[in-house]
Amino acid sequence: MSLLFSFIIIIIILLFLRWALSLAPWVPTRKEAIFRLWDLLDIKPWESFLELGSGDGRVVSFLAKKNPESQFIGIEIVPYLYVVSLLRKYFWKQSNLEFKIWNAFKEDFWRYTHIFVFWLPESIRDTVLPKLEKEAKIGTKLYSYAFSFPKEYMHKVESFWTPNEQKIHIYTKK
Ligand SMILES: C[S@@+](CC[C@H](N)C(=O)[O-])C[C@H]1O[C@@H](n2cnc3c(N)ncnc32)[C@H](O)[C@@H]1O
Repeated sequence: MSLLFSFIIIIIILLFLRWALSLAPWVPTRKEAIFRLWDLLDIKPWESFLELGSGDGRVVSFLAKKNPESQFIGIEIVPYLYVVSLLRKYFWKQSNLEFKIWNAFKEDFWRYTHIFVFWLPESIRDTVLPKLEKEAKIGTKLYSYAFSFPKEYMHKVESFWTPNEQKIHIYTKK
């Protein structure tokens, strides 16, 4: 009985932590938009791509498959989505792809040249952009699907329509 009770308490704590650390709920990027992102992504073999909150891994796996010479990393905080991502990687046999399970906000941005995010505007404004400004190299591109950037950043942003009527906004650190 006490074992069951401890188990339930642990699950509640984990759910709370997941909620507290999460910067966006899981809503996957649509297939047409992933194709558009692939069009827009000009990644060189020596460059690396990071997806913040990679969900079930569909975006980063697809891009890694299309760019086998570059490195791709997806970070996801929700355990079952992380497990689905690992299965995807396993079945597609992708050696240039890595998934991590933890708070993406703790990842150092400096080693990435391309960063993709599908998070709410508040999370982009309050967490992603300040961290990008502090850590990322000049020229690093931040791709935001659906949600744009605050006004004061717009002079560094280009926006492109996707077939499903959402935009991909690309911010370049200068
Ligand atoms: C809107 S979904 C987008 C999923 C995926 N990027 C896609 O485009 O299909 C946002 C994802 O970010 C994850 N997430 C939210 N906060 C996070 C954090 N602090 N660290 C890692 N992942 C996080 C959520 O669990 C969710 O899977």
